[in-house]
Amino acid sequence: MPEWLKNAVFYEIYPQSFQDSNADGVGDFKGIISRLDYIASLGATAIWLNPCFDSPFGDAGYDVSDYLKAAPRYGTNEDLKKLFDEAHSRGIRVLLDLVPGHTSVEHPWFKESLKAERNEFSDRYVWTDSVWKEPAGMASLRGISDRNGSCAVNFFSHQPALNYGFYQPDPAEKWQQPTSAPGPRATLEAMKDVMRFWLGLGADGFRVDMAGSLVKNDPESKGTIALWQEVREFLDKEFPEAAMVSEWGEPDKSLAGGFHMDFLLHFGPSHYNDLFRCEHPYFSPEGKGDASGFIEKYRENYLKTAKKGLICIPSGNHDMDRLARSVKDRDSLKLAFMFLLTMPGAPFIYYGDEIGMRYVEGLTSKEGGFERTGSRSPMQWDKTPNAGFSAAAPGLLYVPIDPADDRPTVAGQEGDPLSLLSEVRRLTALRRSTPELQSEADVEFLSVAKGEYPLCYTRAGRLLVIINPTAKPQEYTHTPIPWEEIYRLGEAIKTDGGRTTVPPMSGGVYRV
Ligand code: GLC
Repeated sequence: MPEWLKNAVFYEIYPQSFQDSNADGVGDFKGIISRLDYIASLGATAIWLNPCFDSPFGDAGYDVSDYLKAAPRYGTNEDLKKLFDEAHSRGIRVLLDLVPGHTSVEHPWFKESLKAERNEFSDRYVWTDSVWKEPAGMASLRGISDRNGSCAVNFFSHQPALNYGFYQPDPAEKWQQPTSAPGPRATLEAMKDVMRFWLGLGADGFRVDMAGSLVKNDPESKGTIALWQEVREFLDKEFPEAAMVSEWGEPDKSLAGGFHMDFLLHFGPSHYNDLFRCEHPYFSPEGKGDASGFIEKYRENYLKTAKKGLICIPSGNHDMDRLARSVKDRDSLKLAFMFLLTMPGAPFIYYGDEIGMRYVEGLTSKEGGFERTGSRSPMQWDKTPNAGFSAAAPGLLYVPIDPADDRPTVAGQEGDPLSLLSEVRRLTALRRSTPELQSEADVEFLSVAKGEYPLCYTRAGRLLVIINPTAKPQEYTHTPIPWEEIYRLGEAIKTDGGRTTVPPMSGGVYRV
């Protein structure tokens, strides 16, 4: 694992919506460069940039039409290189978003593969051998060219699945190729070239989209794991410092494949939603939440993956509701961040979550966002027009700004020691200066019962974190006993005749 991941804090940037430098209403690389000092001031040490490659933007750039070219609306490859350089000069790494599972229908590879005559790209995608036959269990594109076949799609109908082969090809279905067949091999080599290209230009690694989906008919993911192990070997040889984080949501599999990190996600088995995004989130004053399912799953994953890599818990991302949609008040958000920034793994902060940006309700879908669009609104910098995001006319903005008069802004929170932003900065500073709170130090949960409050866990056996997100005092009944307080939110814990009471909506980190 690259050394820097041991103490990394990531910041996810949706490039469309972060900072527009040329008044076209869409964010861009130069805009991001102009905000790097802000990102550094948050204590973030790395950026995950959502896809920024040429694309018709039917799925916000997750439909790539040229893997080797920056989308002109964000700038040129040179501008992106400048972003790498400027970030590096501030000690910030940049991970690009690799979308290896599918392309846009406009990708030249797909256009070639649509042709009836066999050519170099005929096997680049997962095609059946008859237009009347659809690939079992997958949606497909059919009847759109002279090629007599149906092409599997991975996500939206305009995202044809690249062919990495089948783990268990059905012998009766000749079109299902083994992973070792020339077509799948060529696809993987092409993807390695894409990685080589950007790592060579200065990128520090990749977040990998739908990383667990590449090999088909692969019920236990063995083929996909083997594929990523091959990628790991290639990276170890050519780019040993490249950091890899997967959108997979099953750390036991992804880390076995050689990823350094995997996310817990709003889908899959992690119970992540129980914490922040459900009818009764755990991080809520009402105190009706239940973190036990999350903790159980986390421990299971933690034991299976111990020391192999990192489990990353994001504050949110471009696919899920904003954290502030269900964790509504400032103090609850602070406590949520206390959790996120004192857990092992590498924390990921979704842009704007650090000021409590809200989900913008009622928006028309933009570029395949649908419900996700409300979490993709422009960053709110200050009280100038368009919240400082862009000098374009408001109607031209990629997605409208949160219309609320009291929308949170960076400028509004910057000088306020009680703001969420100030708290997030203090928490990242605490983490970065406290080895026991960093990526690899052990965690042990003490509160594991159903519906139990407060949340308590130790780090490296030397620090104790206690968080009471509820509006009621809660008793701490575990050992070790909190001793020296090194961080506190809200009122101090009270010890009285052997009882330790954690005041409402408070939290602390203690040496034990
Ligand atoms: C991932 C991305 C999501 C995208 C999908 C298809 O889940 O995070 O935004 O739509 O993959 O590429």
